[in-house]
Amino acid sequence: MEIGTILKGLQDPMGIPFYPIVFQILLVLTFALHIMFVNFTLGTSFLSVYGYLKGGENWRRLSKSLVRATTLNISMAMLLGVAPLLFVQVIYDPFWYTSNTLSAAWVIGFILIMMLGYSLTYVFYLKRDSRGSGFALFGIIAFALFLLSGIIMHALGYQSLLPEKWLNWYLKGDAINPSGMALHAFQLPRFLHFIIPSFAMTGIFLMLYAWYFKDRADFEKDYIEWVGRLGAKMAFLFTAIQAIVGFWWLFSLPLEFNFFTNPFFLIGAGLGVGLLLLLYLAQKEPVKYAVPSILGAFLTILGMSLAREVLRIKYVDRFNYSIFDYQVNVDWGSTLLFLATFVMGLIIIFYLLSVAYRSGKVEGQFEASPSMHKLGRISIALLLIWIVIVAGLGVIISIKNYLA
Ligand code: HEM
Repeated sequence: MEIGTILKGLQDPMGIPFYPIVFQILLVLTFALHIMFVNFTLGTSFLSVYGYLKGGENWRRLSKSLVRATTLNISMAMLLGVAPLLFVQVIYDPFWYTSNTLSAAWVIGFILIMMLGYSLTYVFYLKRDSRGSGFALFGIIAFALFLLSGIIMHALGYQSLLPEKWLNWYLKGDAINPSGMALHAFQLPRFLHFIIPSFAMTGIFLMLYAWYFKDRADFEKDYIEWVGRLGAKMAFLFTAIQAIVGFWWLFSLPLEFNFFTNPFFLIGAGLGVGLLLLLYLAQKEPVKYAVPSILGAFLTILGMSLAREVLRIKYVDRFNYSIFDYQVNVDWGSTLLFLATFVMGLIIIFYLLSVAYRSGKVEGQFEASPSMHKLGRISIALLLIWIVIVAGLGVIISIKNYLA
């Protein structure tokens, strides 16, 4: 049987509940957000250990802040990883599930690896003031585990693009091998293209840190300047390295894709060059350029995420697979619930971010304004209403199914 026919046979027979383009746009957007926080996680985790081991007043102080930042960044990376996970499963289910099944042990292990990495980061955070440098080991292992998570995610994603190899991976000699113990595919330039930016993005993170704390009396001017300059230097250097890695990846792609003339690749590359120029200008005044730099960086990541999706379309097109051929059975109920949840999530996240932003600006205790209190009450009420609706629907549907 042809691979294309098998892939169609693996699609969900129920079809998909809404138009595929919507899932695809959300996949590109949420992957960009996910990978941005993955980059912040890897970079802050690495730099917190480096600073801790290097010692000296500035590095120790920065290390302390960065290990705290890692705990927040990893939470965001996980939260924002679930969203593309849902979307990729909906429109690319034959690819994603097969790849996951072929490496099932790693998929299950991934959860344990994340839990361990997260816990060790916390131990490092809680013990960061202890004497000696022994506790750095917790930070080093946590970083290694985060990197391993990236290797697993990359292998799962890359394997999913190579259906012509699945059968060989499933066989060991003449017998089938259902153990799921192996990761079968790894493409170094592609992997590095997602990992090297960790150091560029963390550079921008440091510029933002300097911008954010510059007016606080307990942050000395010298320290703020040092952090800003360090960040700008890192951001520029690693963005330049990233551009080279990007070309390496480009030249390792199958020639039939003709990707170097693809407009989406050209847009992505153009945004990358623009960012590099912006970061060059930022060297003299990192604090002034902090906000434009993060906006430019996110735009570049979004362009890269879009180009990555166009590349996936090319890979799957080799088997005449298109998400636009998927049978659509519009389900308004679940779509509206999804959209309402999305809007509610935005309101709650806006509240949480506002509190975090404002409270860090003042030294000592933060007093929320009456309007902030009101927004807080609205957020809690929305969350309660949502829980009642979702749990209620679950109970009603379960009873209906039981009686049917
Ligand atoms: C520190 C931990 C993590 C790292 C370093 C990491 C890294 C990566 C990298 C490098 C990719 C791109 C792979 C490629 O296209 O070659 C990726 C994709 C992905 N990650 Fe993560 N990830 C992490 C955590 C998570 C978590 C916790 C989830 C889910 C809960 C997740 C969900 C995804 C999904 C679904 C994709 C693929 C999306 C798609 O195919 O469009 N990741 N991740």
